[in-house]
Amino acid sequence: MTQHPPPAQPAGPPDGPAGPDLPDRVARVYGELDLSTVPAFAGGFINFGYWTGLPGPAGRPLTEDDRVRSEQDLYRLVLGAFDRPRGRTALEVGCGRGLGSALALREFGLGTVIGMDAHPDQIARAREANAALLAPRAGSPGRLEFLRGAAERIPLPDDRVDCLFSVEAAQHFRDLPGFAREAARVLRPGGRLALTTFFARTPEAARALPALLPPFADGLDVPHVIDEAAAALRAAGLREVRVRSVGDGVWECYDRYMAQQPALRDEWPRRYLTAYETGLLDYYLLTAGAG
Ligand SMILES: C[S@@+](CC[C@H](N)C(=O)[O-])C[C@H]1O[C@@H](n2cnc3c(N)ncnc32)[C@H](O)[C@@H]1O
Repeated sequence: MTQHPPPAQPAGPPDGPAGPDLPDRVARVYGELDLSTVPAFAGGFINFGYWTGLPGPAGRPLTEDDRVRSEQDLYRLVLGAFDRPRGRTALEVGCGRGLGSALALREFGLGTVIGMDAHPDQIARAREANAALLAPRAGSPGRLEFLRGAAERIPLPDDRVDCLFSVEAAQHFRDLPGFAREAARVLRPGGRLALTTFFARTPEAARALPALLPPFADGLDVPHVIDEAAAALRAAGLREVRVRSVGDGVWECYDRYMAQQPALRDEWPRRYLTAYETGLLDYYLLTAGAG
């Protein structure tokens, strides 16, 4: 995964309104290192994946196609939380290469999708990866756009979007209550939020995780506690906040896939399953409504 990173690089010049500076480790991992290119991920996505409906015998090796589909299916899980998305305006927070934003437009009938990421290199990659869709003569002019912006300071006016979604990015947000306030601000009354990522199950677990998993120790990830994340959404004025554990569709198959990776030099990425099985960490889907 993130073994042997290159020397630190600055996050680069801002493109659009600048958000808070990214922590150095986050800037490096999504800058020159380009996490989407390491063997743990595939197809340009950067998430652990939601593994369902695997064809064939359960014991067969998992393929790169399975891996890509798991990452797409994590998006489908999140986007499936929106009731009647057709024609609506959506914002993705932490869009990476923007492949999930494009999937949202293609498969969920949204009117417009805005992919936002705090790292300028990710926005450049998203524009490149989706150049055909963004071209002036494409069938969807203006329906997909990418902008640089941070979860804690979203560069959009109040009441701008109907759907706000985020896939495996909130573990990087330094200020979850700040993100929750921004989400409540940019969502129109009646709008919906759907967010998925991994969280510590308890405050004690949050204290234990850095000793087990280097990304929590080196400043890449923050071990946010799931109940505190839900409380932050409520405190921001969002309603019907629901928390669903989806770890049974994430960790076991991700670990099976990682066990097959010859290029994996470090053993620690396989400790995510240990963290899940010992009750320290889980993967969650949070949903909420605005107004
Ligand atoms: C693990 S990647 C996930 C990318 C994409 N959602 C996917 O599933 O392929 C996390 C992304 O969040 C972005 N990010 C980190 N901190 C952020 C912040 N405070 N606001 C917005 N984006 C952020 C990173 O630059 C990175 O592209």
